[in-house]
Amino acid sequence: MNNILVTGGAGFIGSWVCELLSKRHKVINIDNFDDYYDLSWKKTNVKKALENPNCTFFKADIRNFNKLREIFAENGFDGIIHLAARVGIRASAEDLLPYWDVNVKGVLNLLQLAREFNAKNFVFASSSSVYGINNKIPFSEADNVNNPIFPYAATKRARELMCYAYHHLYQLNVACLKLFTVCGPRGRPDMAPYKFTKLISAGKKIELYGDGTTKRAYTFIADIVSSIIAALGIKGCETINLGNNKPIELKYLISVIEDCIGKKAKVIQKPMQPGELLITWANIRKAKELLNYAPKVGVEEGVKMFWDWYRS
Ligand SMILES: NC(=O)c1ccc[n+]([C@@H]2O[C@H](COP(=O)([O-])OP(=O)(O)OC[C@H]3O[C@@H](n4cnc5c(N)ncnc54)[C@H](O)[C@@H]3O)[C@@H](O)[C@H]2O)c1
Repeated sequence: MNNILVTGGAGFIGSWVCELLSKRHKVINIDNFDDYYDLSWKKTNVKKALENPNCTFFKADIRNFNKLREIFAENGFDGIIHLAARVGIRASAEDLLPYWDVNVKGVLNLLQLAREFNAKNFVFASSSSVYGINNKIPFSEADNVNNPIFPYAATKRARELMCYAYHHLYQLNVACLKLFTVCGPRGRPDMAPYKFTKLISAGKKIELYGDGTTKRAYTFIADIVSSIIAALGIKGCETINLGNNKPIELKYLISVIEDCIGKKAKVIQKPMQPGELLITWANIRKAKELLNYAPKVGVEEGVKMFWDWYRS
């Protein structure tokens, strides 16, 4: 049994990771309960994970080096799964500073402490947004990632570069996971599946930007959790897409939600938003090879799982 630090474990993806990981390892979950969305969700997530005595929670901010240092000194981690982040791609265009502070300074604190306390493995969540406007599909790990178009994406790219430097200098094993639009139970309220489900089920209008033909590689949480954990076994420094290789149109997603709920959406058509990507699509060959990743949940099943959770 190893000691693993999970950052951002009160959030959507982190809470799933803590629950699965604590079945076999000791997990220290840290999160600062940031106010990007309703705190009560995060508190419920933490409570659920704490049902397993292998899991411990500290309210801590990854920007607070001294507090982090105490936690490292007391626990001595074998590996780190770093999921804490200031999230929200579009919001980052309005207010960059918190993104820089949390996403860039925060990772530096963790890398410094990983080095000082001799943690061997560092897994962290990057994002498909790093690919920017990539005309080459599907998106492969070797593609150009030098033109992110939102500050959030630029901070994620900065993290990737910083992690590479620490790997090179101090032989830290690094897995940089590029996640593609993750959804499912506990999914974030700022993301399309949640927003549409909430509005359609309440009989309210939804805003549709563009004609609904933009495509996304929606990735269901149940498919990726074990691969995030498996990434603790990566040797060297690898960038790996964790996404879906069957992108679907936004209007198809809406129709699946309508069928699931049994109500038609009332759509307000809006012009496409600036910077909206026409498609995201993950090449998952490397994830299959290195992490045994094999997505199974189709969009119909994923939406049904989400709806069951939403209603409960
Ligand atoms: N959900 C997706 O579709 C998606 C896609 C690409 C990448 N990601 C990345 O995956 C990770 C998890 O995303 P999520 O969707 O679960 O988001 P989330 O907001 O639900 O989880 C992030 C957690 O980090 C915590 N946090 C924020 N700032 C912190 C700080 N300074 N110190 C400690 N904790 C802090 C938040 O309180 C939150 O609980 C993030 O790094 C995100 O950028 C997510």
